[in-house]
Amino acid sequence: MDRPRILVAEDDVSLAALMALDLKRRGYEVVSAKNGREAAAKVSSQHYDAVVTDLRIGVPDGLEILRIAKQSQPETQVILITGHGSIDTAVAAMKDGAYDYMTKPVEPDELAIVLDKAIEHRRLLGEVRRLREVVKGKYSFDNIVYVSTQMANVLDLVQKVAVTDATVLVCGESGTGKELVARAIHEKSSRRNGAFVAINCGALPEGLLESELFGHVKGSFTGAERNKRGLFEEASGGTLFLDEISETTPALQVKLLRALQDGEVRRVGDNHPIKVSGRLVAATNKDLAKMVEEGKFRDDLYYRLKVFPITIPPLRERPEDILPLAEHFLRNARKKNGGRAQRFSLKAAEALKAYRWPGNVRELEHAMERALIMSSEAAVACEDLPPEILSPGPRPPAGHAGERLRDLEKRHIVETLRAAGFSLPDAAKKLGLTRPALAAKMKAHRIPARPL
Ligand SMILES: Nc1ncnc2c1ncn2[C@@H]1O[C@H](COP(=O)(O)OP(=O)(O)OP(=O)(O)O)[C@@H](O)[C@H]1O
Ligand SMILES: [Mg+2]
Repeated sequence: MDRPRILVAEDDVSLAALMALDLKRRGYEVVSAKNGREAAAKVSSQHYDAVVTDLRIGVPDGLEILRIAKQSQPETQVILITGHGSIDTAVAAMKDGAYDYMTKPVEPDELAIVLDKAIEHRRLLGEVRRLREVVKGKYSFDNIVYVSTQMANVLDLVQKVAVTDATVLVCGESGTGKELVARAIHEKSSRRNGAFVAINCGALPEGLLESELFGHVKGSFTGAERNKRGLFEEASGGTLFLDEISETTPALQVKLLRALQDGEVRRVGDNHPIKVSGRLVAATNKDLAKMVEEGKFRDDLYYRLKVFPITIPPLRERPEDILPLAEHFLRNARKKNGGRAQRFSLKAAEALKAYRWPGNVRELEHAMERALIMSSEAAVACEDLPPEILSPGPRPPAGHAGERLRDLEKRHIVETLRAAGFSLPDAAKKLGLTRPALAAKMKAHRIPARPL
């Protein structure tokens, strides 16, 4: 360690000079302050390992200097020197976080012993803080907000799989945080310094997707004007995130499987294998097992992917996460765009909790951005929330006594639609109706095809 840096605040000039001389001789770096004002200015602007201050040093006094020091540099240790008769104040100072106090006249040897201990204490505090930061960096997921045990379990899995090379399949409805989890796996892995490369398999036609993933050589197809590295190569040493893996064609699935098994790829138009070493994380909001059954997804790739599955539950199954997330998004939106609202009215909070969130966390994020724009008060009110959150209003408690069959049916359809993210085919399937039959019922009930 460097020479410890000490601030000596003492208004008795000759005593101060003696102390400084003695401490310097003992190997300390000493800075002096001859009154309270000077001491306060120095502790608040510069770093010291310890401060030795006379209790009565004018305004601000020693106690105030202690407070300033603790505020600007909490790990700095403060030793108070008191005249006789001010023991009570000294005791109060200890309560305020002083390391120790000494009564005048101060023996140089004694002061040196106390200072050495104080500086060792400070060093240990710093070490504890650094260790905490290390542990925190390892085990906390800074931008992932949750209080539910379901999400705690998900993050447990993330932690466990991150340190392995295993392929991961992240499942969950749209907007539940699949990409966030994929990124967390990357960040917690030894590959964190490599690239995180994401591609949405549903966004490109087969041919393009193939050349994106595996690369191509010049002239392999019209438009291929030069050699191109594929994303598998880009992600070598990092993580390749294949979003919406269910949208790949069987032909491409075969190629993916081969790349996974052999750890090598071939560029389109080239037979020369290239070694790749990235970890693959795939995501889907579809039921892949069912797609396999129906022959829509290759079983060999499916089994290869689901070695380590992580399923993120929909937001409605972890309602305790809704308000913490809502506050998080409100705060983020405020930082980005400004605005007033910092919290929710009681009714708005109730509505947020009661809503089913078919679009999950993403829908909540957008709702909060909108609420901040709509709200002009310190608290977001019901009127500031998107209308679909409020109608048909917070669900009544269980039991529908007195509700007419017709209303019951309407409500059931609306809720199923919401749960299906307003996908008519999905909702029809869940309701056991054909699509035209569902459409007819929606028309009869005047249910809009899309949320407002
Ligand atoms: N637990 C969480 N804490 C904080 N932000 C979250 C959380 N879960 C999701 N988000 C945020 O919600 C948004 C949607 O998450 P993400 O894109 O990861 O979902 P997804 O499952 O990939 O959605 P999609 O299926 O629509 O692609 C992102 O802005 C993400 O940062
Ligand atoms: Mg996504």
